[in-house]
Amino acid sequence: MKTVSDRDVTDLAAEAAELNNHLVSQLEQAGRITSATIAAAFRATPRHLFVQDVELSEAYKDDYHPTDRDGDGRLLSSVSAPWLVAQMLEYLRPQPGNAVLEIGSGGYNAALLHQLVGDAGAVTSIDIDPVVTERAHRCLRSAGLEDSVRIITGDGAHGVPDAAPYDRIEVTVQAAAIEQTWLDQLAPNGVLVVPLRVRGLGRLVALTPDGLGHYSGGGWLPCGFVAMRGEAASSTQMHALTPGARVRVDGTQQLDIEALTKALGTTGTPCWSGVEVGTSEGTRPVIDLWFATVLDAYGTLLADPRTSALRALPGGTPLTWNVDSTTAAYVTMRPVLGHSDRYEYGVILHGEDASLAEALVESLREWDRDHRGRPGPVLHVYDHGTDPATMAPGRALERPGAPMVLTWPKD
Ligand SMILES: C[S@@+](CC[C@H](N)C(=O)[O-])C[C@H]1O[C@@H](n2cnc3c(N)ncnc32)[C@H](O)[C@@H]1O
Repeated sequence: MKTVSDRDVTDLAAEAAELNNHLVSQLEQAGRITSATIAAAFRATPRHLFVQDVELSEAYKDDYHPTDRDGDGRLLSSVSAPWLVAQMLEYLRPQPGNAVLEIGSGGYNAALLHQLVGDAGAVTSIDIDPVVTERAHRCLRSAGLEDSVRIITGDGAHGVPDAAPYDRIEVTVQAAAIEQTWLDQLAPNGVLVVPLRVRGLGRLVALTPDGLGHYSGGGWLPCGFVAMRGEAASSTQMHALTPGARVRVDGTQQLDIEALTKALGTTGTPCWSGVEVGTSEGTRPVIDLWFATVLDAYGTLLADPRTSALRALPGGTPLTWNVDSTTAAYVTMRPVLGHSDRYEYGVILHGEDASLAEALVESLREWDRDHRGRPGPVLHVYDHGTDPATMAPGRALERPGAPMVLTWPKD
């Protein structure tokens, strides 16, 4: 196989430009890129210089490229997939002359940021992993950008105070919390983009400050990222349940795994909501977020249809349980008779406390009535020390870092 670094340079640039143009057109058609400046930045940034150890055509595939793994083969770092890089930049909207901090380096996104802010701007990129920063340096050098981007090895949980304030902070690693240092280092009219883990769900959010110690925003694009390492590291817990079934929980949860396993081993009773959705509506991510917000006991049930009798939805389904975990209920769907592209949401109850399923079904109807087709929840983030009584009423996310509350506006 001839990799990018082996190729004859004479025809490489032209072929790369063609592949890059094709990639950008794809991203535009898919709605991942909507702004002309972001499209231009992509066209001006040859991705193969940042993804060097693969064939040229691979470098322009809309896929992530692994750059570091731990001893067990788990991914520690990657150059993110172009669709995700594009969406993040669309959320961030860097302007010429901006000072930008990128947390998590790969080189490629930093090069795009440089294109967007220009020589009058400044791009600082920090990564905790020296393998990654060394590689990013090398790639930026091959793109002639070694003097245009400042790369630092360190824990991005602390930001990079010496170049603050930043007009834009882009976190490119999954964070379980919004670090107070990021808020402190954000300029008054700045934008902070973070792939945030909300009760186990990975969602991209963009936040802006109101100047009074309160930041708010949304977006909610589902996205998978490697998790933060270092001081702000935290992980979800995965528990095995009945054969083929597991539950993923995040944060502090009152949960008796033995009792829950026993409950889920009993025969389930379906309860249907009458809430019908079309397959093209893409309601699953928003339903997951809805339940992650409204349920006190919340986990994601993962069940393999080949080995488990549980009818969890593909990719995991919201699960709740009662105080002693002896009754459980989870969200499911069934096809609407006579419609190949319509489904009805419902709940499967395991155990005797029928009120659990009733509450879930009522909650599905509330989402349908008040929130369906609307922009989704608002994330409110407060400076440390803010009086909780002054915060928006909603689901407080129990996390270290800055206090966070999720609300679902009706209008
Ligand atoms: C998805 S990669 C970044 C992709 C990159 N922005 C690009 O151009 O494609 C996530 C990176 O975050 C880094 N990381 C993890 N924890 C970190 C921390 N606490 N501070 C800074 N970087 C961190 C990882 O080492 C990894 O390189």
